[in-house]
Amino acid sequence: MRNINEDTITQAVIASFADCKNARLRTIMTSLAQHLHAFARDVHLTEDEWFKAIEFLTEVGHITDDKRQEFILLSDTLGLSMLVMSQNNRKPANCTEATVFGPFYVEGAPLYSNGDDIANGAKGAPCYVKGQVRGANGKGIPNAQIDVWQSDEEGFYDVQNFGDEGHSVHRARGRLKADAEGYFNFRSILAEAYPIPHDGPVGRMLQAVGRHPWRPAHLHFMIEAPGYERLITHVFREGDKYLDSDVVFGVRSTLIVEWKRHEPGTAPDGRNLDAPWYTLDYDFVLNPLEVHA
Ligand code: BEZ
Ligand code: FE
Repeated sequence: MRNINEDTITQAVIASFADCKNARLRTIMTSLAQHLHAFARDVHLTEDEWFKAIEFLTEVGHITDDKRQEFILLSDTLGLSMLVMSQNNRKPANCTEATVFGPFYVEGAPLYSNGDDIANGAKGAPCYVKGQVRGANGKGIPNAQIDVWQSDEEGFYDVQNFGDEGHSVHRARGRLKADAEGYFNFRSILAEAYPIPHDGPVGRMLQAVGRHPWRPAHLHFMIEAPGYERLITHVFREGDKYLDSDVVFGVRSTLIVEWKRHEPGTAPDGRNLDAPWYTLDYDFVLNPLEVHA
C-alpha cells in the first residue's frame, strides 16, 4: 500500500478493514470512511478548517464530565439523536410518539404515590397532571411504571443546581405507578421553556450558525410495562414560542397539549391556592412488544 493519492485513499481505508472480525463494525467503519471522505471532498475542506474541527472536538471532550455531556448536546443539536431515536422507535400511528431522552434523566428518582407532589420544593406555578397509560386496544395498563422529570420556572433541572446540596436532592422528578386501570396523577410545577447549556463549544457553534439554544416547555416521561416497548417521550406546552424551532428537533404535533390555567381557588387536591395554577391531562398509548415465535 504505497503512493496513495486523493483518488485512491478512500478505497485504501476501506480495504484496511478487511480483517475486522466483527461484521457490523466493518460495515459501520466502511460507511463512515466513505461518508467522511465524501464530505471532505464535497466542501473541499481546507487544512485550516480541518484543524478548527479538531480543536472544536477537543473542546467538546474537555468540557464533558459526569455532569455535562457536550457530545450528546452536539448530537442533539445536529439532529443525530432525533434521527437515531426515530429510526429505532417506529410505532403504529395510534401509539404515543417517542422523542429525545435528553441528558437530565436521573436513575433512582424518589418513589411517589398517585396524588403526591413531586416538585419537592422546585419553584414554579402548581401544576396538576393526570392521565391514563393504555394499550392500543384502549384498555388501561395496570401498574405501568412512570418516570417523570422537568425543569423549574427558571429553566433549570435539579441536576444543574451545583450548590451545597449537589445532586442529593431530587426536585421536580420522580417515579410512580399507574393504578390497576392505568390511571396516574401527581402535582408538580408548570413547565417553562429553557435554553440547553450553551456556555461551551456547542453554544458557540449554535451562535456561529445563527441558531438559538432554546427548547419549548415540556415534561419528560419514561413509561414501562411488561409486554410493551418502553416509551421515552415528552409532553410539550401548546402556545410555546419555540415549538417550531426546538434546538434539538424533538417536537411532534401529537405531543403538544394545552396546560389549562386556573384562577386562584380550590385545586384538585382540595388545597386552596392563592395564585393561578395549571392542569395537564394526557394519555399515553404503549406499543406491544413483538412476540417472536
Ligand atoms: C432535555 O429536554 O432535557 C434536553 C434534550 C436535549 C438536550 C438538552 C436537554
Ligand atoms: Fe428537558
